[in-house]
Amino acid sequence: MKTYNYLEYHLDENGILFLSINREDKMNALNIELLNELKMIMTEVYESDEIKGVILRGKGNKAFAAGADIAEFSSFTEDKGRNMARNGHRIFRMIEMCPKPVIAAVNGFALGGGCELAMACHFRLASANAKFGQPEVNLGIIPGYGGTQRLVHLIGKGRAMQLLMTGDMISADDAYHLGLVNHVLPDTDTLIAEATGIMKKIIGKAPVAIKHIVEAVDACLDKGTDGMGREIELFANCMTTEDFKEGTDAFLNKRKANFTGK
Ligand code: COA
Repeated sequence: MKTYNYLEYHLDENGILFLSINREDKMNALNIELLNELKMIMTEVYESDEIKGVILRGKGNKAFAAGADIAEFSSFTEDKGRNMARNGHRIFRMIEMCPKPVIAAVNGFALGGGCELAMACHFRLASANAKFGQPEVNLGIIPGYGGTQRLVHLIGKGRAMQLLMTGDMISADDAYHLGLVNHVLPDTDTLIAEATGIMKKIIGKAPVAIKHIVEAVDACLDKGTDGMGREIELFANCMTTEDFKEGTDAFLNKRKANFTGK
């Protein structure tokens, strides 16, 4: 795998990629180069046979990511803003549609683009010191990496409106009660341990079924797609896999299934 300026990673023996945003002195703010690196590593995740799933966190204990890099905003025009948002949308969509599980382990501030990045992951866990928010309105802008859409899907329109319009930060516990995160753990170590435990469970399942879950669930939120119809097709496609035969045979013979992704 490549080396990156703003990303650190470790691939463990189970095929779990522990990926850290590595810009601790700037609260892991997402500059353009960092986002492009994220695109490159996600391409590796898509293509690699070794990588089975990704746990994404921020380096250190203070921030997951404190948003887009505000220092890069000063030269922005309407066209540059559009290009920046389009680029971010493409990369976050790659994460959202990744055929392998991607868990956000939010270990500190997840603000603006950081909150949007966490929301693009398949689900989120948080440490107790995590804080979430979409403070763009304080800068005279709105979220540009999918925040106005994914936040509504995750917590509902009224609650999303309040967070977007006030720019308020909320605690990990509040995020849990809103449904933005699935679990809150006491600190970063327990957060990563919990994320690893959940990830191990997921990567022990049939990989094609996991990939189809990502696509079928996404179809529920995509207004241009017949979600029920997509589910039927993906369900039928599972029947063509070796893993379907293996899973049913293992159940009927009272043994543990050994899935291969075929
Ligand atoms: N873009 C660029 N730099 C950022 C940043 C961002 N989104 N968020 C933090 N930083 C930088 C700070 O400028 C500071 O740099 P410096 O040491 O060179 O001055 C460094 O990270 C540490 O941040 P600081 O503000 O001193 O830490 P804090 O603990 O007082 O506050 C935050 C932490 C996250 C609450 C605060 O940094 C913040 O509000 N950040 C911006 C959040 C935001 O508006 N995000 C949406 C962007 S669209």
